[in-house]
Amino acid sequence: MAQQKTILRALAGETLPTPPIWMMRQAGRYLPEYKATRAQAGDFLSLCYNPDLAAEVTLQPIRRYGFDAAILFADILLLPQALGADLWFVTGEGPRLSTITSADDLCALKPASAIHDTLSPIYETVKILSRELPAETTLIGFAGAPWTVATYMIAGQGTPDQGPAHALKAENRAVFEALLDLITIGTIDYLSEQIKAGAEVVKLFDSWAGSLQGDDFTNYAVKPAARITAALKARHPDTPVIAFPRGAGERYAGLHAAIGADCIALDDGVSADWAAANVQPDGCVQGNLKSSHMVTGGDDLIRETRHIVDALSNGPHIFNLGHGITPDADPENVQLMIDTVRGG
Ligand code: CP3
Repeated sequence: MAQQKTILRALAGETLPTPPIWMMRQAGRYLPEYKATRAQAGDFLSLCYNPDLAAEVTLQPIRRYGFDAAILFADILLLPQALGADLWFVTGEGPRLSTITSADDLCALKPASAIHDTLSPIYETVKILSRELPAETTLIGFAGAPWTVATYMIAGQGTPDQGPAHALKAENRAVFEALLDLITIGTIDYLSEQIKAGAEVVKLFDSWAGSLQGDDFTNYAVKPAARITAALKARHPDTPVIAFPRGAGERYAGLHAAIGADCIALDDGVSADWAAANVQPDGCVQGNLKSSHMVTGGDDLIRETRHIVDALSNGPHIFNLGHGITPDADPENVQLMIDTVRGG
């Protein structure tokens, strides 16, 4: 039977007259209904581990805007927690974790096979969503890519330059690589369970790929993503994979083949014209409107949205932002972006 869902058609390589659209962090603090459900859950992690409420916040932007895809509501840092790291969120600051800086720290973690004890509520959320989503809406599962997850596990928090992870890589490469390996294996099993529960597409978020230089980019961004993609394709040959090595710049060219991904997601550091010439010939691309337009709106939003749609109109394209929408965004600007994409 011909594939009907627009996101799956684009991921299969079809050029559509109107690109399908969804938005990173589409369930989040810019929406009053999200804030209400989060308050009901108590805190962010309780929301992630409550399947009914996590499904509810995933559905909120679908009800409000009719996006073509829903992304599972969870976080990339749940996997470290499932591996035994302590994880908590400091309001107004972000995540905090116990740190991994030595062989002893690494040995104290659980084996990848233990992650499902912690992560089973996430699979339950996926099951609820695959029952409740509208027939035309694609369900996207996700995980963090090993390098990005490792940067948080090593530093114990977000860092502007990923300095502690770069330092461990330089000073104790064996521990660094063993940590990446553990995350890689855990990620394969985590995404595989999401697919078994009903995720139709999976996305790998490598938010800090851009800080890897030279061979490090190949070894620690491209190769782990390729290994995860190959393992998932062996188990679930029909499930498309989106890779998002944020900040890759000109290294975005050639990544479809190097990773084996069905789609490369672009941040706003590359122009849509450049991507049309250098990335899209290899397959579907996703992106890449600056998320600040969701704050500022107006004619600039309309002009930039049209520009991206036009530039990428000769090949498979999924419209999205270049990074997650921010809490200060105006929900009306999201509607304006969608109307511009769909209405021309
Ligand atoms: O995209 C989606 O809507 C799906 C859910 C999702 C969340 N985080 C929910 C979330 C996804 C895909 C993520 C990915 C994620 N989480 C990444 C990779 C993408 C990126 O943004 O670069 C990273 C690095 C994280 C780690 C993380 N989680 C940070 C650094 C923070 C704090 C930042 C902040 O905005 O406060 C989070 C918290 C988080 N994850 C929130 C949401 C909706 C905000 C939590 C809240 O409600 O207070």
